[in-house]
Amino acid sequence: MGQVDNCGGKDRLLSHKLKIAAVVGARPNFMKIAPLARELAKQPERFEFVLVHTGQHYDKVMNDVFFSELGIPTPDIHLGVGSGSQAQQTARIMLEFEKALAEITPHVVVVLGDVNSTIAAALVAAKLDIAVAHVEAGLRSRDRRMPEEINRVVTDALSDILYTPSRLADSNLLNEGVAPQKISLVGNIMIDSLIGFLEQAGERRIVAELGLTPQGYGLVTLHRPSNVDNREVLCGIVEALLEISRRLPLVFPVHPRTAGMLTKFALETKLEQAENIRMIEPVGYLDILCLMKSARLAISDSGVIQEETTFLGIPCITIRENTERPETILEGTNTLAGHDRELIVRLARDAIDGHGKSRGDLEFWDGRVAERIVEDLEKRREWLMSSPDKRVDRAAIQVDANITQGGTDR
Ligand code: UD1
Repeated sequence: MGQVDNCGGKDRLLSHKLKIAAVVGARPNFMKIAPLARELAKQPERFEFVLVHTGQHYDKVMNDVFFSELGIPTPDIHLGVGSGSQAQQTARIMLEFEKALAEITPHVVVVLGDVNSTIAAALVAAKLDIAVAHVEAGLRSRDRRMPEEINRVVTDALSDILYTPSRLADSNLLNEGVAPQKISLVGNIMIDSLIGFLEQAGERRIVAELGLTPQGYGLVTLHRPSNVDNREVLCGIVEALLEISRRLPLVFPVHPRTAGMLTKFALETKLEQAENIRMIEPVGYLDILCLMKSARLAISDSGVIQEETTFLGIPCITIRENTERPETILEGTNTLAGHDRELIVRLARDAIDGHGKSRGDLEFWDGRVAERIVEDLEKRREWLMSSPDKRVDRAAIQVDANITQGGTDR
């Protein structure tokens, strides 16, 4: 008998509640869990939901404000791991989450996105024979220099259920040999939150409070180690921002990592002294949406902002060489600028002059993703509540069936 039968107890099986442990840790996880937690809470007789927070992000502005604004339930378990190197952070989460799982004994662990909390939780659950469901599966930048890409590849390889945002994500997984039965195309869950909170965000007063006018400023966010940890690269980006700010005021909520690096490389004063650049503390979900919605353009290296700006039809200049979200380029308002200072400035000028990209149709960006995930979990309920041994057998049968049928998609 496996973990679930050993620790689950008869009561849980009799109650017919599917016990779900969801793991969050860092800022981009929060807008993904909010709609799912809300949807599961509608059926308390069918689902038991346990929220685990790893503590990867812990500052008020990086964490607490998102929980209160998005109405995310208070985590049932907090692992309190904090910051560290990639290995330290991942290892600490693993050690603590293993203990937590022994207490929770869920039928399935839900992980989201591509942060260190995602890979660490998936790895622990998979080794304990607990089913793993990955929300936002199948994204690939094919750039293994990014910790997130490694997190994506490993998490998907370990997951039993892969909830994908797009058909491209499905193709990525099928090309890697993932059995089609494991994949469920549900759409982009971030957009559930965006649609749900857009009206409230519109009521925020941050634009006026910062002395800005709608369409009269650009929004800047930066935090990728590849952009901010290297003096030369960061210096080039700062120069580009200074140049753009001569034509358009910029507002720049500064991530803690970036704040540290700007100080370390003595670039902070340059930005602070620029007349048209407002550096502010990181802001909450409603304020960032409000700032984005009224911006003329965004300049960012965030994954999330590429999608949010596309939804909102705001031109986005992404300071990266690649993206795991190609739909935002093909159908959206996003353009990759790499670290090319001149290109960043030229793209910004185009957007200021009204020649930025506009958006097309995006499939499944409809605000109903959490609903589809819950429907899918319901369909898989019996399988998820069966013992891990049976699950392994059944997964093997599914794979065999696929091979017998020719496995055409591989
Ligand atoms: C993490 C995610 C990244 C995501 C980003 C959103 C990984 C590998 N990276 O990057 O994908 O886009 O979150 O913000 O998981 N710090 C604080 N307070 C906090 C959190 C962090 O001061 O609440 C500082 C610490 O100095 C820390 C640094 O920021 O060392 C980086 O934090 P970390 O969680 O390691 O990665 P992020 O850069 O935030």
